[in-house]
Amino acid sequence: MFMNCRRVKKWHFLQLVSMCCVMSVLMVCWDHVGHHVVSHVKSYSYRYLINSYDFIHKSLSVSPEQAARFGSYPYLLNNKDICKDKNVLLLLFVKSSPGNFRRRQAIRSTWGNESYIRHKLGVIIKVVFAMGVHPDVLSDSLQQKKMHKELHKEHMNHGDLVQQNFLDTFHNLTMKLLLQFRWTHENCVHTRFLMSADDDVFIHLPNLVRYLQDLRRQNVRNLWVGHVHRGAPPVRRRDSKYYMPFDMYQWSSYPDYTAGAGYVVSGDVAAKIYQATLSLNASMYIDDVFMGICAIAVGVSPQEHVFFSGEGKTPYHPCIYEKMITSHGHENDIRYLWKVATAPQVEGFSSGLVGKLYCTAVKMKLLCKPYFTNTYSCMAAFT
Ligand SMILES: *[C@@H]1O[C@H](CO)[C@@H](O)[C@H](O)[C@H]1NC(C)=O
Ligand SMILES: *[C@@H]1O[C@H](CO)[C@@H](O)[C@H](O)[C@H]1NC(C)=O
Ligand SMILES: *[C@@H]1O[C@H](CO)[C@@H](O)[C@H](O)[C@H]1NC(C)=O
Repeated sequence: MFMNCRRVKKWHFLQLVSMCCVMSVLMVCWDHVGHHVVSHVKSYSYRYLINSYDFIHKSLSVSPEQAARFGSYPYLLNNKDICKDKNVLLLLFVKSSPGNFRRRQAIRSTWGNESYIRHKLGVIIKVVFAMGVHPDVLSDSLQQKKMHKELHKEHMNHGDLVQQNFLDTFHNLTMKLLLQFRWTHENCVHTRFLMSADDDVFIHLPNLVRYLQDLRRQNVRNLWVGHVHRGAPPVRRRDSKYYMPFDMYQWSSYPDYTAGAGYVVSGDVAAKIYQATLSLNASMYIDDVFMGICAIAVGVSPQEHVFFSGEGKTPYHPCIYEKMITSHGHENDIRYLWKVATAPQVEGFSSGLVGKLYCTAVKMKLLCKPYFTNTYSCMAAFT
């Protein structure tokens, strides 16, 4: 009332100018931050406020005949007897590709060495490499023959390959997921746990086995554990590897799922997921998300373990090796990491009060960063 006219005008003018500034900054940056922020806000609100995904699997339900069309590619290579031993603690599916021979060799001689685990820890694990058909060789029959010969030799030497007749491409990863659950249903129903991992993942098998032995003693069921993504939004940018068209998935948030790099389910969950795949449309090509949809259909939810990694690589330190389960992105250093991470001095590295304090400090320094580092979360420092 007592403000004079000039001051009001000045005030309004200032407001107007600052509004314009903010608007123009927003408009310039909108393309970069806008969609990203909006989609995350939308998906988190959906995940944490509504959190009801029941309709998703209902809308993806198809008849058993239609579902079978996705998952019943014939086997080209198979080893049905891998699980003939009735005492399998862990069946470990490695998602591989025909050309990745070197990676398979590295895995066989390190964390995938079944006899090492049997001698050292007294348990039976089975490693299976799952793959489709190399997509490039179809046109070139000479190369196709060569690769086929090499693969056949590997098959005879190691007896751990399972290959189905679908093209081994990124957009066919869900076919590998179907293969894994179908093969388990056909050949290994008695396994206590089933794990799925990429072939560039490092798994600290001794740590994992001890963890699973503990769970077995507690007779744990209904288990699905890994690095959990909650309320992740579908990517709608066409240039992204993970682009998700609206007609394939129309909702603003994916159901919770574990990163496909490495996760474990108990045998009962493996059986339930297999049942779910028998009546779902498996054209959803992001395999970890598809697993989330299957899990909703059968009422299973994922649980977080801080030492399972998603995309990230572990920091290299004995305090980490003592606890780690999986680490992602190891194409060339699997042998090195296996050597240092399973060295005798690593076990009990943090024992005693001093050791505990020292390792907590080290882990805090390595993991608790103010910026995103893409390894284990800061929580892992305190376990
Ligand atoms: C697997 O481990 C066993 C027992 O520790 C060892 O003798 C064998 O050489 C290893 N195999 C490979 C391929 O490294
Ligand atoms: C998946 O594999 C099938 C069978 O080989 C093939 O017809 C299809 O084109 C593949 N899809 C993609 C996206 O590669
Ligand atoms: C499965 O979903 C895809 C993509 O949404 C769709 O094109 C296809 O027709 C569906 N298949 C069946 C059998 O419903």
